[in-house]
This record gives sequence, C-alpha cells and structure tokens, in this order.
Amino acid sequence: MTDRKSLDEIREFWTRAAAVETDDDGLRPVARDPFLQQVVEEAIESRIPVGSTVLDIGCGDGRSTLRFARRAAAITGVDYIPAFVEKAAAAARAEGVGNVRFLQADATALTDRKAQIGAVDVAVSIRCLINLDSWDRQKAALRQIADMVKPGGLYLLSEGWDEGMEGLNALRSRAGLPPIVPVPYNLTISRKLFEKEIAGLFAVEEYVNLGFYIMMSRFVQPCAVYPEPPRHDHAINALAAALQRECRDSPLFGSADYAGVYVLRRLG
Ligand SMILES: C[S@@+](CC[C@H](N)C(=O)[O-])C[C@H]1O[C@@H](n2cnc3c(N)ncnc32)[C@H](O)[C@@H]1O
Repeated sequence: MTDRKSLDEIREFWTRAAAVETDDDGLRPVARDPFLQQVVEEAIESRIPVGSTVLDIGCGDGRSTLRFARRAAAITGVDYIPAFVEKAAAAARAEGVGNVRFLQADATALTDRKAQIGAVDVAVSIRCLINLDSWDRQKAALRQIADMVKPGGLYLLSEGWDEGMEGLNALRSRAGLPPIVPVPYNLTISRKLFEKEIAGLFAVEEYVNLGFYIMMSRFVQPCAVYPEPPRHDHAINALAAALQRECRDSPLFGSADYAGVYVLRRLG
C-alpha cells in the first residue's frame, strides 16, 4: 500500500510541476512516458468526430488539447492549476491555434462552470481522475463530466486501471521483476467498478486495448535491459508505439493493459 497523498498535497505537486518544463528525469511531468502519450493521443484523436465541440479535462500544458484542436470546431482545455492554464494558452498563441481556449476549472466542480463552458459533443480526460484521492470523489467527477456531454455525445478517457496493473505485475513477478507501484498522488480505478458506476450515464461503445505497448515497455524492455533500469525513451518503446495499432486486438496483451481508452456514448 502506497503512502497516498491528500488532495492538497496532490494540488501542490501539480503546482510545482507546472513551474518546470521537464522534471528531474528530463521528462514532461504531465506525460512522463512520451510513447505511451503518443498511443493514447492517437487512439483518442482518431475517435473525435471532425467538427465537434470538445472539452479536455485536466489538460495540463495543453499539448494534447492543441493536437485534438485539429479535428474540433472548438475545444476548451480546463485544468485546476492556473500556471498550466497560462502555459497552455501561451502555446496556443505561439502556434496560432484559434479554435481553442483554456480555463481554470476543477474536474469536481464542472457543473458550476457549465454556463461558461457549455455542453459539448466530446469530453476527454487523460490521467486526470486518478489525481483525486478517493473513489467517491472520482465518482462525483464522473457525474460532473457526464453533465457536460450532450446526449449522444462521447466521453473518451484513458485513466489508470487496477485490473491491468494487477495483470502486469503478475507477469513481472513471474520474470522476477519488482511490481510497478503507482505514484502516491495517483489512485487507479477498478474497471469493474467504473463500468458499474457509469452504466446509467454512458454506454460503453468500445475499449481500445493498449496492452501491447504496456507489455513491450513495462515487461519486455525491463527484461531486455536488466540489470540496467528501463527507460521511457528506449527504442523498444518507440517500436511498440509504432506497432500498437496493428497489435491492439490480441487478447494475449489485454491482461496487462492499465491505460486503455474507453469510448463512451452519453445516454439520454
Ligand atoms: C498527468 S497530467 C495529464 C495532463 C494532460 N491530460 C496530458 O495528457 O498531457 C494530470 C493533469 O490533471 C490536472 N488535474 C488534476 N486534478 C485535477 C482536478 N481536480 N481538476 C482539474 N485538473 C486536474 C493536473 O493539474 C494535471 O495537469
């Protein structure tokens, strides 16, 4: 069991993260594994209907929001850390992206901002809800997000799933690798509980299995480079990200998938 952080400590972590370009390991703090980010963004971007209105919740430095803007008629990125909002807006200005805006808003209080943000065709969240400190808060945020999506609209999300983490660690233990323990400011979510919770709000239209990338980067690479530590910028990860789309449907990799993308259709 990790020494989990309080909500205040988690916010403090992201405030510090927003003040730097890269962390102590030279990685973007919002997306430390660039190739995992690539496969997640590809899966989400390709499912955003062209010309839709989009809300990216927990947008961080706005890099993924700016990518999704290419398909959106209009996109709003929200984050609860003001420095991320400023950074993202500066990036949009620098790149001349006109159909995007960034606002400070908390994922647990979106309904209060509905008049300003407006209901959208597509909501997106990438590793945002896992920064809430309890399943009760995560459930409350899910209801708030559902309230922002128009009936028939989509919610596309990649958070962090318990079952895939357990499957991956079972495999790692068979190879003598230590378990991957989520950082103390993250609370991964049970897919079983998640699907039960959203049942009255959304229909599960698709689940994009990213297990191939996870297996290659979190199992094959650590075995290959042992006793050196694995690296997020390793060539195996680059190759796995390039091949992910071709290899996504193999059930062999599903058990280790802790980052897959849900494609949810709003009921109502
Ligand atoms: C792991 S980063 C991911 C950022 C971005 N989605 C991406 O993929 O690059 C998580 C982001 O969620 C934001 N966040 C965490 N809790 C939040 C909350 N309750 N409301 C809004 N944003 C939140 C953090 O400030 C951070 O920018």
